[in-house]
Amino acid sequence: MALSLKLSGLTKIFPGNGTLQWVPVLDSIDWHIEKGQFFSIVGPSGCGKTTLLRIIAGLEPASEGSILLNGESITQYDRRIGLVFQEFALFPWRTTVQNIEMGLEIRGVSKRERRAEALKYVREFGLADFANTYPRMLSGGMKQRVAIARTLIANPEVVLMDEPFGSLDSQSRMEMQNFLLEVWEQRKVTVIFVTHNVNEAVYLGDRVMVLSKRPTRIMEVFDVNIPRPRERSDPELTDFREEIFGLCARL
Ligand SMILES: Nc1ncnc2c1ncn2[C@@H]1O[C@H](COP(=O)(O)OP(=O)(O)OP(=O)(O)O)[C@@H](O)[C@H]1O
Ligand SMILES: [Mg+2]
Repeated sequence: MALSLKLSGLTKIFPGNGTLQWVPVLDSIDWHIEKGQFFSIVGPSGCGKTTLLRIIAGLEPASEGSILLNGESITQYDRRIGLVFQEFALFPWRTTVQNIEMGLEIRGVSKRERRAEALKYVREFGLADFANTYPRMLSGGMKQRVAIARTLIANPEVVLMDEPFGSLDSQSRMEMQNFLLEVWEQRKVTVIFVTHNVNEAVYLGDRVMVLSKRPTRIMEVFDVNIPRPRERSDPELTDFREEIFGLCARL
């Protein structure tokens, strides 16, 4: 399989400031992620998962180390990398279709094309009845579908997701997991998915990376070689879950 991202010696220390101490966050993270892989990351709260995604997205500089995307170094925001965060970050004054269109605005696509493309996403993502609805009238799951559509419409190669389903109830969460898997399988994008939820990490991921407490190192990377579509009750998934829970409990 071709390589998508390569992280080498990635280190992050937030500098102190007056009475604030230095915060060493990432400690020489080395890893590679293959193209089209669904890569889950779990780790204790505050260990630096969001920081890691922000560095990969070029929103935060690394203190040391490098990130290669398709073999090329990235040091700033790159449109081949898309982001979906937990807080939906939809513009409240824009409708569903207008929010989705935003993903193309920065690319200089004409208004007519943007609208046509956004409407395709509206239909494909089951949002047709809500195309002209404002975010406050959408359910959490729908808002997150709008946020995913807005990211995917820009056609990224890698999608970084930071606890995207963290605020959903368990039923919507399972529906969104399955929805995301369908979208991922169709588009063959690389997904890096951060979650606190070990069940979710294992159900979704081809691989699950477990991070330590700060300063953060990689504890282990599990290869979840279970064919898809997966059954949530598959005993093999349970075995992975137990093993990862066991590892997390020792952190
Ligand atoms: N801009 C900043 N300046 C100083 N310290 C920061 C900054 N951003 C994050 N940190 C610190 O870096 C550490 C990692 O934060 P980060 O948000 O990446 O953790 P996380 O693993 O995403 O946590 P959570 O699971 O709670 O979302 C924390 O101790 C946090 O306080
Ligand atoms: Mg975080």
